Amino acid sequence: MKSLPLGRPTWVTIDLRALKWNLCQVRRMVGKNVEILAVVKANAYGHGAVACSHALLAAGADALGVATVEEAEELRLSGIKQTMVIFGLVQAHEVKRAVKLNVQPTVVSQKQLRMLNKAAQQLGKKVVVHLKLDTGMGRIGIQPAAAKSFVAGLKKYSHLTLGGMFTHFAQADGRDRKLLGRQMQRLQQAAAEVRKNTKAAFRVHAANSAAVMNTPDSHADMVRPGLMLYGLYPARRFASRVDLKPVLQWKTRIIQLKTVPAGTGLSYGHTFITRRKSRIATLPVGYADGFSRLLSNQGHVLIRGKRCPVVGRVCMDMCLVDVTRLNQAAEGDEVVLIGRQGQVRISADDQADLLDTISYEITCVIGNRVPRIIQGETK
Ligand SMILES: Cc1ncc(COP(=O)(O)O)c(C=O)c1O
Repeated sequence: MKSLPLGRPTWVTIDLRALKWNLCQVRRMVGKNVEILAVVKANAYGHGAVACSHALLAAGADALGVATVEEAEELRLSGIKQTMVIFGLVQAHEVKRAVKLNVQPTVVSQKQLRMLNKAAQQLGKKVVVHLKLDTGMGRIGIQPAAAKSFVAGLKKYSHLTLGGMFTHFAQADGRDRKLLGRQMQRLQQAAAEVRKNTKAAFRVHAANSAAVMNTPDSHADMVRPGLMLYGLYPARRFASRVDLKPVLQWKTRIIQLKTVPAGTGLSYGHTFITRRKSRIATLPVGYADGFSRLLSNQGHVLIRGKRCPVVGRVCMDMCLVDVTRLNQAAEGDEVVLIGRQGQVRISADDQADLLDTISYEITCVIGNRVPRIIQGETK
């Protein structure tokens, strides 16, 4: 384990053994003939894209998925050579950079094909593209009925080949799988039409984590799990299907402890007034680190294996918790914001429920100034 960085005692630990375990669960669910594109966009959902990507590839991921050219560049600079698909749309000013990085962009227009082909020609490269179909998400993609002529049009671009045809599900975690079924059918139908007319050995892919767990019919040639790799479930009921291990823990330490009398107002706006003589701990973590201000007077943290409530408003760099119940709490005590301490646990889902959001957002917004401490590296 890398030692803790000097500086403010607020950090995230990333357990690469858990990450690899979760990838093995995906492999077990999809079998050996389906490729796994591990989704590591948004800094691997806040977990640290470089370390996670190396670990996932070492554990058997076939490819990586990112959202932007910058994300791809960070990974290439770290020495990753494997297939990388960009889900977002590469903009005109980024085309050359993308081609140089040897990434596989998502395409939805002839204009993009022209730009990519020109850049590839100038740089003496070939570019593999993935055609995105909008089968029901309404985000990016062409209509499935247009796929055949789109791919036929690809033939005039000597430096481009079709590597994939894909879609994204609008609802893969629901009990009702009708919409997913319709989306999958549209994708398969379009792919079958295209296959009649081209020899290109492209992959069909659609399944995110929820579909990996919930709908084997959607696995196709390649799956694209993100969330489950990080040990989180798209819906709590999926926990009985597969044993995932959380990868991330978020911790800090008490930096000051004080005893205040009853009637003391705490933090901005005095939204919390003590009802009794209280022991209040100051923690060096705030909303600028991703510890949401909406957790003010709502959230909990773990100290000495006990849940302690957040009191008063969460500030930009600090927040307060009530430790009156803990006789032995001391300055320097480790505090868990997300993770386990003794028998108790606060999960990203627990925080998400409080904030009326999803665990994706909880881990993605943990700020860059919170160092990620990588554990379980095998070198
Ligand atoms: C295009 C695409 N594929 C796959 C994923 C992975 O989804 P999940 O994290 O639910 O597995 C995402 C995430 O949003 C995505 O945008």
